Amino acid sequence: MNIQKSLAMQERAKQVIPGMTQLLSKRPDMFSYGVWPGYFSRAKGVEVWDLDGNRYIDMSIAGIGANVLGYADPDVDAAVRAAIDAGTNSSLNCPEEVELAELLCSLHPWAQMVRYARTGGESMAVAVRIARAHRGKDTVAFCGYHGWHDWYLAANLGTENALGEHLIAGLNPAGVPRGLAGTVLPFRYNHLEELNAIVDRHRDDLAAIVMEPIRGVEPEEGFLEGVRDLADRSGAVLIVDEISAGLRMNSGGAHLVLGLEPDMAVFSKALGNGYPIAAIIGKSEVMESAQRTFISSTYWTERIGPAAALATLKKHQRLNAGARLMEIGRLVQAGWKRIAEASGLEIEIGGIPPLSHFSFRHENALSLKALFVQLMLEKGFLASTLFYAMYSHEEAHVTCYIDAAGEVMAEIRQTLDRGDMEKRLQGNPASSGFKRIA
Ligand SMILES: Cc1ncc(COP(=O)(O)O)c(C=O)c1O
Repeated sequence: MNIQKSLAMQERAKQVIPGMTQLLSKRPDMFSYGVWPGYFSRAKGVEVWDLDGNRYIDMSIAGIGANVLGYADPDVDAAVRAAIDAGTNSSLNCPEEVELAELLCSLHPWAQMVRYARTGGESMAVAVRIARAHRGKDTVAFCGYHGWHDWYLAANLGTENALGEHLIAGLNPAGVPRGLAGTVLPFRYNHLEELNAIVDRHRDDLAAIVMEPIRGVEPEEGFLEGVRDLADRSGAVLIVDEISAGLRMNSGGAHLVLGLEPDMAVFSKALGNGYPIAAIIGKSEVMESAQRTFISSTYWTERIGPAAALATLKKHQRLNAGARLMEIGRLVQAGWKRIAEASGLEIEIGGIPPLSHFSFRHENALSLKALFVQLMLEKGFLASTLFYAMYSHEEAHVTCYIDAAGEVMAEIRQTLDRGDMEKRLQGNPASSGFKRIA
């Protein structure tokens, strides 16, 4: 396979962009450095073309969850073109943000007000600021990954690796003021006793409880009810982070499916199907506290984000996209199980079906992953150990992908049996956590 232009672009990027990309999950070294193309020239539906003109079926991260309908969706793009034709920005506000707020509140009847941002991490910072302003308190209990901002990375200040349990190990809080140490405290999903202990110790200074409604595992019986109860008893604002889980199981927050009523919920990623938009929705008594602090930004007022979100949400609802995403994800998980058993490889599968992942339960798991990535690329697939479903994925794509992945797993098994993994690998395996690119 020729990926010379893509590799040359990676070399140029390394000179001018620290870490090569703006997002850890799109760094080629997270897949297999030297074989992962890294850059795209065009994307449409489930297809992606790299800089050398190679075409792939994307069975990997779907723009890391942004493109829930598929790449360059015609209806969302038409709404964006109309926004461009009408002018995307002016000295006045765009009415689409009001229409979108009304739609989000009608989909989530417990919420009455909405603020906007454009990306996930910043919208979580907005939500936490509003909650702290509302309560006049500082401490935040959290579970899971919530972005790059100071309020969150402060969890790793002065500790070994508090965030290691929460999606990404090794995040260094260099540059985060040391004065924030102790302001944000982790608990693990389904470990109500850990949240209970935090609430006991911080009853007088707890501002918020922050968590994803669901991610790697199903909630155990009583867990979500217990979280709601602890929020009520401590007065903490319950913020549900729907940045990844939202619009996967239904056309709104996963909390609706799970029967959890938060005080605020935060959406981004899928909401714009590839265009930047984030929404912080909440109960009016909490959201009004945004007026007691300063939260304001120029590009939070442009028209493309809300126009894209309106088109995405309406199409998502019309197609009942959540049901399709669940179905496609289930097919992929069942396929992984089948081919792993057939090839004699041990894998562990997790995640809600539309955000599925597996890991190899073997020594040198990251070398196995690198070989999987490499051999799947040779067969025309962008593929890794994560699969994020898009509405444009059809059953036929899954069938071809699982057939190819089955052959690849068999080849990996043979490679293990022969003991010549290092010889087979053309790229460098991923490192387990966040590391510098050499
Ligand atoms: C649950 C969750 N919260 C927050 C974020 C951060 O969003 P962004 O990458 O848009 O800043 C992510 C991104 O992966 C996420 O999955």
